[in-house]
Amino acid sequence: MCGIVGYVGPKPMKGVLLSGLRRLEYRGYDSAGIAVEQDDKLLLVKVTGKIHELEQRLAGVDMEGSAGIAHTRWATHGEPNDANAHPHTGCNDRIALVHNGIIENYQALRTLLLERGHHFSTKTDTEVLAHLIEEYLEKDEECPLDDAVRLALQEVDGTFGVVVIDHNNPGQLVVARRGSPIVLGVGENENFVGSDSAAFAEHTRDIIYLNDDEIATITASDYTVKTLQDEVCNPIVEEITWELDRIEKGGFDHFMLKEIHEQPQTVEDAMRGRVHPDLCEVKLGGLEEVHDILVSAERIIFTACGTSWHACLVARRLIEDFVRIPVEVEYASEFRYSRPVFNKGTVLFAVSQSGETADTLAALRLAKDEGIPVLGVVNSVGSTIARETDAGVYLHAGPEIGVASTKAFTSQVTVLSQIALLMGRLNGRLSKKRCEGILHEIVRLPGKIRSILDDTGSISEIAEVFGRVNNALYLGRGYNFPVALEGALKLKEISYIHAEGYPAAEMKHGPIALIDDDMPVVVLAPGDQIYPKVISNIEEIRARKGRILVIATEGNETIRDLADWVIFVPKTLDCFYPLLTVIPLQLLSYYVAVARGCDVDQPRNLAKSVTVE
Ligand code: G6P
Repeated sequence: MCGIVGYVGPKPMKGVLLSGLRRLEYRGYDSAGIAVEQDDKLLLVKVTGKIHELEQRLAGVDMEGSAGIAHTRWATHGEPNDANAHPHTGCNDRIALVHNGIIENYQALRTLLLERGHHFSTKTDTEVLAHLIEEYLEKDEECPLDDAVRLALQEVDGTFGVVVIDHNNPGQLVVARRGSPIVLGVGENENFVGSDSAAFAEHTRDIIYLNDDEIATITASDYTVKTLQDEVCNPIVEEITWELDRIEKGGFDHFMLKEIHEQPQTVEDAMRGRVHPDLCEVKLGGLEEVHDILVSAERIIFTACGTSWHACLVARRLIEDFVRIPVEVEYASEFRYSRPVFNKGTVLFAVSQSGETADTLAALRLAKDEGIPVLGVVNSVGSTIARETDAGVYLHAGPEIGVASTKAFTSQVTVLSQIALLMGRLNGRLSKKRCEGILHEIVRLPGKIRSILDDTGSISEIAEVFGRVNNALYLGRGYNFPVALEGALKLKEISYIHAEGYPAAEMKHGPIALIDDDMPVVVLAPGDQIYPKVISNIEEIRARKGRILVIATEGNETIRDLADWVIFVPKTLDCFYPLLTVIPLQLLSYYVAVARGCDVDQPRNLAKSVTVE
């Protein structure tokens, strides 16, 4: 949520900052701005709208100083307009800063600063921080910039990833973090800052993850990291693990479509070196040290948000089926403010693509504080959730840029399936024979996903019809109920059509009242154990003249008589159907959004990485 870029070095400043912002635009895109220190002055430009608006405004503008910062915003306090866009300055325009997070006590600080004669030009929470820092610098001419930032941050409650520039300290940036991600990029005679490493990956692969309550001062040739209590730290320089082509569209019209098509590869990557059907073995290196915890686990709590929460619903069935222990799935935003009962043997899994979702992070901290083992299933390497969990498994899906999550979901389900299999074997409740059969099937899934993606013609035709409706209902049962939720979420996220996911049989208790010719119904009806019951639900819709799209298993020709449209997926085990049935639903929502002229990769009001609660 909000993208931050900073650069100190000899490269053309404007170009480096703008290309960094473009890489981070998925984090927020309602307004953007840039500040460059040039000839002991600050040049500042801010605009409402997306990065290309900022690029247009900057065309022909000379902005080539030795240090600069930039920001793409997802508004929390104050509507998206030019004034509220970052960077923000104090009264005297001496410093400028960009901020991601929320200053919770900003009202109180604003009142104090007004009493001390400051004037405010925005409605944001962030502006108070600029005034506080400037005040410290002006009170004491000798005060180093990092001290002023540190002192100001001591007055602040809330979360921040913040980068500050001062025209009296040329060629220097001060960066600090609490709760909002910040990564430093270490180059040769140049250094970078980003909300994530995509901001500067084309310039350097060497990175430092700033920890909470750390502050760094960077110049072109040097960097120092301290705690906010002024103790010197020894940061570890790590390497970016993914290739640059993962953040390019690679010939696709949208990142979302590219990421949908990456799934045969990303599902395979999620099990590479981990699944050994002939040995009947699942090896998850990241969990090896906690096998004893997994063996003695008596209850699992999954916590997550959005699409990741849907993946957890699939995991509940997998674990209950293979491991035979109770599982709860909690919205992180609810869980963090509840009074959960933890007992001996409870293990919590936090599941997150970005590894930065504020609510998921808070939920895992709550469990950790209670002494509960916390494990992670995370995509983004080095992210906060990955670092704060006791152990975990990476998805290795590469960066996901499209705001609507696709490949992360299938990788999550793939990894969670392996965790369920591993736990089932460890506690002995999953027989070797059954496990062997399941493992032989899991490795066939990438090929089966590929075969769905090879034939998408009918989906774009069906999308023409769905593109003209205002409501849609998605129904599924068993393993496919979470897919119904996910399909509905995809449609509303990117095409703004109201869609609801429901357990198919629950439809009788309400939603059936909505069914008419104008509300198509998508029914997940693969050939699993619950199939005969789903057929009864389809008949109930037909009796009310509903139009039906069925996702069915190849070879089921009789289903054509019951449906207006059918999309087939290959046959698999019941537990793996979510990995196949979700693919046509992702494609359907994509083509519907395109047909309606929506901005697929950057849908209105949303952001990819939700780092505020
Ligand atoms: C946002 C994104 C969703 C994502 C959710 C949880 O709402 O738009 O695509 O599922 O956050 O994010 P996480 O990174 O924790 O999986």
